[in-house]
Amino acid sequence: MSAQLEELKSRGIGELGEIGDLKELEAWRVRYLGKKSVLTQTLRGLAALPLEERRGVGAQANEVKDLFEMRCEQKRKNLEEGEVARTLERGQIDITLPGRPMPFGRLHPTTQVTRQICDIFFNMGFQVVEGPEVEWDYYNFEALNIPKDHPARDMWATLWVDFQTEGGERPMLLRTHTSPMQIRVMERRRPPLRVVIPGKTYRYEATDATHESMFYQLEGLAVDEGITLADLKGTLLHFANCLFGEERRVRFRCDYFPFVEPGVEMAIECLVCHGSGCRLCSNTGWIEILGAGMVHPRLLERVGYDPAVYTGFAFGMGIERIPMLKYGIDDIRLFYSNDLRFLRQF
Ligand code: DAH
Repeated sequence: MSAQLEELKSRGIGELGEIGDLKELEAWRVRYLGKKSVLTQTLRGLAALPLEERRGVGAQANEVKDLFEMRCEQKRKNLEEGEVARTLERGQIDITLPGRPMPFGRLHPTTQVTRQICDIFFNMGFQVVEGPEVEWDYYNFEALNIPKDHPARDMWATLWVDFQTEGGERPMLLRTHTSPMQIRVMERRRPPLRVVIPGKTYRYEATDATHESMFYQLEGLAVDEGITLADLKGTLLHFANCLFGEERRVRFRCDYFPFVEPGVEMAIECLVCHGSGCRLCSNTGWIEILGAGMVHPRLLERVGYDPAVYTGFAFGMGIERIPMLKYGIDDIRLFYSNDLRFLRQF
């Protein structure tokens, strides 16, 4: 080993032996292993040396570096242990105190319910898929039988993305519902298909206890030969029974959505009064939880399915509404205001 490195080694190790606390140790580390230390500079300068010298000096310098690092760590451990021992001797640590509790994370209530709902449909043979939150007008509206200037567009207050085509149109938006995924899924696959699609949706709305500008929906779609409204009813009844209890009654009534024909809404028997009427259900005994219907033949045609051969049903529900009903949460804004006092309860 070169005399210079040899000298450095014994000086470093010698000084290390004298060190009595962690602060001095850190100063030592900077001096002997830091960026400006002789060792680091030597290693950096290797490239400038002729090849035969480089090998020898490089290996020696690395050897000293490894030794320094190892001894430094040993010293650190010794000093730390010494400090703990001294504090214990002085009686400053009460080792009989219980440890600090570890904070536990958990899934957000929306995630928990989403998984629960997906599980129910998964057990009936549905696949779970996801899709984009930034969507084209075509999928969110046009392809769902909601052309430009159609009054049904008023059902979905829309947040438009600030992107213009050369023709001055703004065809991009934040999806107002998960229904555009019906088209995307059908475009890419052939029947038979059964999917559910959970995800974020957005509306241009003032927020209040029952409205958020961002909320979650879950869409469902089943297409095959011979699917009827009875399949829709059976599937959704089973779903309601899994989520809200075996004896829970459900009610279907006609409703209008441009992308289904016929369209229905499903309500469940009120969780509070079981049908006799109360404040939660506005004295009706029923609580609406989702929209559904038979996939409109024009949607099937649009994606190249023959409506004379294939039929299907679709449904869509707001996800937050379900824990709100189950647990009596009276303000949807609680979900996304990051208040741990609320979130910890789930
Ligand atoms: N997308 C509708 C909404 O956001 C809900 C809906 C209704 C979805 C009927 C469906 C359906 O799939 O068939 O209001």
